[in-house]
Amino acid sequence: MKTIAIIGGTGLTEFSELSNVKCHAQESKVLDLGLGCPSSAITEAVFNGTRLLFLSRHGHPRALPPHKINYRANLLALQALGADEIIAVNAAGGISTHAVAGHLVIPDQLIDYTHGRENTFFDGAFRPLDHVEFSYPYDEGLRQRIYTALKQLALPLGFSRSGVYGVTQGPRLETIAEIRRLEQDGCDVVGMTGMPEAVLARELEIPYASVCLVVNPAAGKTSQEIALEEIHAVLIQGMVEIKQLIFQICGINSSE
Ligand code: HPA
Repeated sequence: MKTIAIIGGTGLTEFSELSNVKCHAQESKVLDLGLGCPSSAITEAVFNGTRLLFLSRHGHPRALPPHKINYRANLLALQALGADEIIAVNAAGGISTHAVAGHLVIPDQLIDYTHGRENTFFDGAFRPLDHVEFSYPYDEGLRQRIYTALKQLALPLGFSRSGVYGVTQGPRLETIAEIRRLEQDGCDVVGMTGMPEAVLARELEIPYASVCLVVNPAAGKTSQEIALEEIHAVLIQGMVEIKQLIFQICGINSSE
């Protein structure tokens, strides 16, 4: 049976729709593999012939800021539980004009603006120094299945089948000048958690793709200041759709 792991971001800290859930405690030996504990316990359930794993990136309840997440422990724990592929869910700010609140983007590229995060397993301590190929940071087959599922669902605010995800350090939002720079660099959306998650998955050779939910216009992309209450409302509706998407993906086999 195929195992798909979901890493939920802001707005997606639980998956209560799943039934017959088994829970792997965060502190258990299986999940702590020498680099500390993952962000949350990992829940496991079978849906429609697919084994699903769910991990809340910011913890459950949500407490970890993007730069304090133990991305390495999260990835190792999912690998230990047999994840064949990983779908990451990321909240993001919209930079390009079509990336309005509620829109979903399946990024095909990223730019990493983060710093000071533990961003490799091949650090010469945990594993010997090595380099991975990362021209295409996301798995194409998995992106294609997400695209197929989104097309079938036909959600009201639409989606983009590609885009560049700029990953900033946070936890603060960006200045207008920073967003202008990201836009000049070619970024379509901006978020804080896409890296080092994507590269760590690549180092472990686990196919990985992301679905970004745009929850606000990025700084300077609206005449008003970013309203945190509005972000909250978009997150609630968006995550209902993301869960529909995940169930839809479970029904699509890899050859479609
Ligand atoms: N910037 C960075 N990360 C984000 C944003 C943003 O505007 N919105 C949601 N995550």
